[in-house]
Amino acid sequence: MYYSFPDNFWWGSASSALQTEGAREGETTWDHWFSREPNRFHNGVGPQQTSTFYEHWKTDIALLKQLNHNSFRTSISWARLIPDGIGEVNPQAVTFYNQVIDELLAQGITPFINLFHFDMPMAMQEIGGWENREVVAAYARYAQICFELFGDRVNHWFTFNEPIVPVEGGYLYDFHYPNVVDFRRAATVAYHTVLAHAEAVRAFRAGNHAGEIGIVLNLTPSYPRSQNPADLKAAHIADLMFNRSFLDPVLKGEYPQDLVALLKSYDQLPACQPGDSELIAQGKIDLLGINYYQPRRVKCRDSAVNPDAPFMPEWFFDSYEMPGRKMNPYRGWEIYEPGIYDILVNLRDNYANPRCFISENGMGVENEQRFIENGQINDQYRIDFISEHLKWLHKGISEGCNCLGYHMWTFIDNWSWCNAYKNRYGFVQLDLATQQRTIKKSGEWFAATAQNNGFTRE
Ligand code: BG6
Repeated sequence: MYYSFPDNFWWGSASSALQTEGAREGETTWDHWFSREPNRFHNGVGPQQTSTFYEHWKTDIALLKQLNHNSFRTSISWARLIPDGIGEVNPQAVTFYNQVIDELLAQGITPFINLFHFDMPMAMQEIGGWENREVVAAYARYAQICFELFGDRVNHWFTFNEPIVPVEGGYLYDFHYPNVVDFRRAATVAYHTVLAHAEAVRAFRAGNHAGEIGIVLNLTPSYPRSQNPADLKAAHIADLMFNRSFLDPVLKGEYPQDLVALLKSYDQLPACQPGDSELIAQGKIDLLGINYYQPRRVKCRDSAVNPDAPFMPEWFFDSYEMPGRKMNPYRGWEIYEPGIYDILVNLRDNYANPRCFISENGMGVENEQRFIENGQINDQYRIDFISEHLKWLHKGISEGCNCLGYHMWTFIDNWSWCNAYKNRYGFVQLDLATQQRTIKKSGEWFAATAQNNGFTRE
């Protein structure tokens, strides 16, 4: 069967500043944490060792062109542009991002620019990070500076990538700095991130900038073990906590009432101020980026909660390991292709079918060198992964879902937070020692698919 996609479908990939650029003037939480605890990073590789996009941007964009990208997402590093987060703009950073944007456009590749991808300037974290409303104000100023500097050429803006991840990592589950475990502080960070998002949207609209603004959310469908009411309730609460805590504010302009009621009943609500609801209502977006890697399967809890344990989302559910599930053993994530369709149908039916696209989907695999044949990584598993997801995406579009494109994570193998270079995701293999780039078989497959605006598959 031939799967063809709508005209002007976005084919491309996503990356981020911190994971690709290399050393910068302003320190981030990642630089700070790495200097204190390098052991927390796979093989002790830190955020200074990246794929050196800061030096190789021009040849890397030529590679994007070779992969037939018509669009590409990266982020601006807040700490590179404004090293202390709130003061002077760094002119070298302006030159760098101008060059990147101009070269993408010269190659016919539409730049999608994200403003925050887990990379808090350390100076901002030192005054409390997202727990402090001054940081919300500093972020709004930074966003406005970006719109003014680059908005004449950038028409697709995103305020945040996966804003729930710094909440989970930094304030619940100990995989991001500042390694706090405290639900109410986590809820405050999430709430202030929504306010920061809305401030940026408001500044974008007030400036009458051309183009559109959105956010990138990692949507993880919550599947109950069974239709038993206890399992359904568990899945509903997981959905409220991990998906709808950001999805509802950015698409409906308000929080789900049952999430607010739940947190209130456990005394976990963050402090609100007059005017917050009006601000959140102004944060409604034009375009939603959807990152999809894995589903979340849950069941009701089997055991009572330890009364001394800190309040956690897991007070309401256990994770469920479905027998027979397909796994990516390197990342430990389930592969469930229909999830992409379920997300799109949920958006169509419950959120007025917003303009959206798949902004990340991908498969991290360890030790890919073992698949080298005639000098090239033969990653047929990645081609299978992509095409099976695209089949479900195609089905969603044919049933009326408003999905405008598909971006893969990622372009070149890059540094990935605590996993560093453990799992490789790229269309292009990176030799860390020489920085040599070699297109993988999946890169060639993707280039052909983008050029044909479709692919053949059984
Ligand atoms: C996405 C992030 O969630 O997952 C990326 O947006 C990240 O920044 C990617 O690199 C893969 O993550 P990991 O943890 O498998 O290395």
